[in-house]
Amino acid sequence: MALFAMGDLHLSFTVHKPMDVFGQEWRNHVKKVEKYWKRKVRREDTVVLTGDYSWGRNLEECRADLEFIASLPGRKILLRGNHDMFWDAKKTEKLNELYGDRLFFLQNNFYTYKDYALVGTKGYCYEGKDSFSHFEKIREREMARLRVSFEAARAAGYMKYIMFLHYPPTSIGEMKSCFTETAEKYGAEKVIYSHCHGRARYHDSFLGEVNGIEYRLVSSDYLRFKPDMILKE
Ligand SMILES: [Fe+2]
Ligand SMILES: [Fe+2]
Repeated sequence: MALFAMGDLHLSFTVHKPMDVFGQEWRNHVKKVEKYWKRKVRREDTVVLTGDYSWGRNLEECRADLEFIASLPGRKILLRGNHDMFWDAKKTEKLNELYGDRLFFLQNNFYTYKDYALVGTKGYCYEGKDSFSHFEKIREREMARLRVSFEAARAAGYMKYIMFLHYPPTSIGEMKSCFTETAEKYGAEKVIYSHCHGRARYHDSFLGEVNGIEYRLVSSDYLRFKPDMILKE
């Protein structure tokens, strides 16, 4: 039994969006995902997917992509990414009802792996694409969602946490953020994130241990499309 993570599958079974325009490593990336996932992940394992599943703009255009994920081995827990237009954060319960025990959507709630609570939200970092005041507003909303997730787990008696984000926990150049401070406050053991694509972005945020917390980047191209083992047994 093991816990894995990987983000940013960027599937497009329905809409036309070839990924190799983003670099040679993306050539046949879906085949690589399927091959390595089936090689590493067993039925009894859990995989947390950290967002950016599909190029589809609504649930209808994402259905085949979500079905592909559902068909892979293991229990799949999904976190929202910035490209996941099919997922209205306020209607997460509807997605959980729709996919029953096939896919589990993590938003304002938590899941468990052994005695760990798996908590998280999309997060946000400043990438210069919006005004700073807009960035602060989105970040505050994401912080509120992260607190709800942690508090739900704490209220249920969990004391060990693994925290998942889609965005890196810090903006480029920052040595801390409200997300890293929250991870420290609750005593998260690990912070797992993705979103960063291409060699030039892999060092945008923390990698390795910082203030007693292990930070890991799990965007699919960084992992060369192999799910990353987070916990074993
Ligand atoms: Fe992505
Ligand atoms: Fe992203």
